[in-house]
Amino acid sequence: MTNASPIASTLLDRVLVLEMVRVTEAAAVAASRLIGRGDEKAADHAAVEAMRAALNELPMDGTVVIGEGERDEAPMLFIGEKVGTGQGPGIDIALDPLEGTTITAKAGPNALAVLAIAEQGCLLNAPDVYMDKLAIGPGYPEGTIDLARSPGENVRSIAAAKGVEPGDIIACVLDRPRHAEMIAELRSLGCGIQLIPDGDVAGVIAVTDPDTTVDVYMGSGGAPEGVLAAAALRCVGGQIQGRLLFRNDDERGRARRWGIEDLDRIYTLQDMAKGDCIFAATGVTDGSLLDGVKRRKGLVTTESIVMRASSGTVRRVRGEHRNLKV
Ligand code: FBP
Repeated sequence: MTNASPIASTLLDRVLVLEMVRVTEAAAVAASRLIGRGDEKAADHAAVEAMRAALNELPMDGTVVIGEGERDEAPMLFIGEKVGTGQGPGIDIALDPLEGTTITAKAGPNALAVLAIAEQGCLLNAPDVYMDKLAIGPGYPEGTIDLARSPGENVRSIAAAKGVEPGDIIACVLDRPRHAEMIAELRSLGCGIQLIPDGDVAGVIAVTDPDTTVDVYMGSGGAPEGVLAAAALRCVGGQIQGRLLFRNDDERGRARRWGIEDLDRIYTLQDMAKGDCIFAATGVTDGSLLDGVKRRKGLVTTESIVMRASSGTVRRVRGEHRNLKV
C-alpha cells in the first residue's frame, strides 16, 4: 500500500501514466537514428536531449534521483536536476534515456529508453557503482532467493519452489569475464544460461515473462539499472535483491556521501522501490520485452510498455509517428 498524498497519487494516475510513454518514445526515436552507427556517445546524447525536452513539458515538480551521473560529469539529466514545469507535487525520477548504448551502436538486441517515477523518497538513491543482482518472477514464496547464499544454493531453492530439477532452471547472466566462476557453478548444476551482451534491465524483467523461459537473473551490473528493474518488478510482481559493489575507496566515499552507511547491505525490492510508482520503457532495438523503433519513409513506429504499481496495470502502446523531424 502507498502512503501517497491524494494529489500525488491522482497525478501519477491520471496525468502521468501515459505521458511517461511520450517521454520514453521521444528518447527511443531520437536514439534510433544512431542504431548500428558505431557511435555510443552520439546515441546516448540524442536520447538524453530528447528525454529531457519531453520531461520538461510535464506538469510536475520532478527531481532526477537516478540519472546520467552527478552534476559535474553529466551536462543534463544529472542527479538532482529539476525537470517538469515545476508545478504540482514532488516526483522522484529514475531514468536511463538509453539503456544499452553499446547495443545501439552495434544494432544488437534489447536496447531500451527507460524511466521510473515515484513519490518523493520512494526510489533508492543508488550511486553509479556496480550492484550484485538476483531476481525471480512472481509466484515464488518470500525467501526463495537470498543474495547471501551461493548461486548454486539459490538455483536449488528456486528449483524446489518450482517443482523441477536444478538442471531445468534457466538463468540470464551478463556475458562478462567477472561472471566466469558463477557461470561454472551454474553449468555444474546443468542449468541453461542465457548470456546477454548488455542490457540487464531487460534481463531482469525477462524473469517476469513466462515466454522468455528465464527463471532467474544473476550477476552484477549497474546499480542505477538495478533500481529501474526493481521499479518494474514492483509493478508486475517478482523478487529482487541487490548489493552495491565498490571497486575502490573513491566509490566507497561516494556512497557514504550519499548517506549509505552499511556498504554490505542487501537491498530488497521494497528498499529499492516502494510506494506507488510507474515504470515506462520504449524499445530502441528489438528485444525480449519490446520491438525496437522502425523507421520508414514518413512513418516511425514504436512499442512501449507502461505499468503502475498500485493498480498492477500493464499497458502496451504501439505508436505510429508521422512527420517527425527527428
Ligand atoms: P549502458 O547503456 O550505460 O552502456 O549500460 C549497459 C549495461 O549493460 C547495463 O545494462 C548494465 O547494468 C551495465 O551496462 C553493465 O556494466 P558493464 O558493461 O561495465 O559490465
